[in-house]
Amino acid sequence: MKAVAWHGTRDVRVDNVPDPRIEEPTDAIVRITSTAICGSDLHLYEVLGMFMGEGDILGHEPMGIVEEVGSEVTHVKPGDRVVIPFNISCGHCFMCDHDLFAHCETTQVREYNMGASLLGFSKLYGQDPGGQAEFLRVPQGQFGPIKVPEGPPDERFLFLSDVLPTAWQSVKFADIPEGGSVAVLGLGPIGQMAARMAKHLGAERVIGVDIVPERLEMAGRNGIEILDSSRHDDAAEAIKELTEGRGPDSVIDAVGMEAHGSPIASAAQKVTGLLPDSVAQKMMGVAGVDRLDALLTAIRSVRRAGTISLIGVYGGQADPLPMLELFDKGVQMKMGQAHVKRWVDDIMPLLTDDSDPLNVSDLVTHRLPLDQAPHGYEIFQKKQEGSIKVVLHP
Ligand SMILES: NC(=O)c1ccc[n+]([C@@H]2O[C@H](COP(=O)([O-])OP(=O)(O)OC[C@H]3O[C@@H](n4cnc5c(N)ncnc54)[C@H](O)[C@@H]3O)[C@@H](O)[C@H]2O)c1
Ligand SMILES: [Zn+2]
Ligand SMILES: [Zn+2]
Repeated sequence: MKAVAWHGTRDVRVDNVPDPRIEEPTDAIVRITSTAICGSDLHLYEVLGMFMGEGDILGHEPMGIVEEVGSEVTHVKPGDRVVIPFNISCGHCFMCDHDLFAHCETTQVREYNMGASLLGFSKLYGQDPGGQAEFLRVPQGQFGPIKVPEGPPDERFLFLSDVLPTAWQSVKFADIPEGGSVAVLGLGPIGQMAARMAKHLGAERVIGVDIVPERLEMAGRNGIEILDSSRHDDAAEAIKELTEGRGPDSVIDAVGMEAHGSPIASAAQKVTGLLPDSVAQKMMGVAGVDRLDALLTAIRSVRRAGTISLIGVYGGQADPLPMLELFDKGVQMKMGQAHVKRWVDDIMPLLTDDSDPLNVSDLVTHRLPLDQAPHGYEIFQKKQEGSIKVVLHP
């Protein structure tokens, strides 16, 4: 089959690889019909290369048709239309029993002291082959696959794999008070949906912050108040000004470790990217290599005793943080990988509703054949051709 494989920093290729087979009674094989590129893939593409192996198959936002199932997979059968969550979780361990699927104890990557395995996501997360491919072996297939109805196009359901549950979690973790305010930093796919969901769930003011014109525009046409931070020297001050000088009740950081406007860490990431893998892995372990601009904006702009929800991914082990400010302001912070299946029942009614209340149909900007994945990665990373969400069709 054809699959999108990692070959080095900013080097992904479409390779011919062996078709996956059922290896465990809990496996399912899915023929992929749509598979998206995510901001998290960009971290693997650029700064987390030291944790990738040459030939690793990328992708964690797939859906398709079940081809074959192992003997222990009973909730889906060949022919079913399914979306595959990016968490690989068993559904029956201590963590899964508490709906904490990103920490599944059956698939935790203990070698790196990390949480549950994730599809297509580097050695840190189990190095399981991902879903940017013609076929996918789904580990823990007795639990993961989400059956979706026939009828609406793939794009209505595809984002149950990651974007929608992730954005939903970011809003839940933001603890926005009834009628309160929230700033969403970063208007990539995650920030777009987080902003729409915050509004849908009752936030009175939702302020979306980014610097990319078409991303600001997309948020604007979906009813979000926008702030172009490139027009302000100090984004945190500008956000506070919009909220009576006090700052919003909650701030969602949907940017993560590769924020614009962090020149020193940006250089550190470039240097780390050039080191041999073993050295670079140690660097990540002891140094602060995250670009913290968005996180620092969140800390400075959130109102006293407010909440910061971090959904953008961070990876440095020793990032310097303004603890005095965090402590004195009494900020609550919640963060982590999304527990995908925890939120699916809440979101599904919004997708089967034909009025499309989250306007999910306004997110994808590029639909490409799998062969054009390298181009898709490049334009998505460089924010060229107006790309906001790229979906590949094997
Ligand atoms: N926690 C999870 O489970 C989970 C799941 C999926 C994605 N993510 C993470 O969420 C983040 C966003 O993902 P995405 O797909 O939307 O990515 P993306 O790269 O498309 O979006 C990031 C956006 O942030 C903007 N940005 C950069 N620096 C900024 C700054 N200083 N201030 C304001 N905006 C800034 C960029 O212009 C871009 O529009 C990534 O870090 C990704 O890894 C986390
Ligand atoms: Zn993703
Ligand atoms: Zn589990």
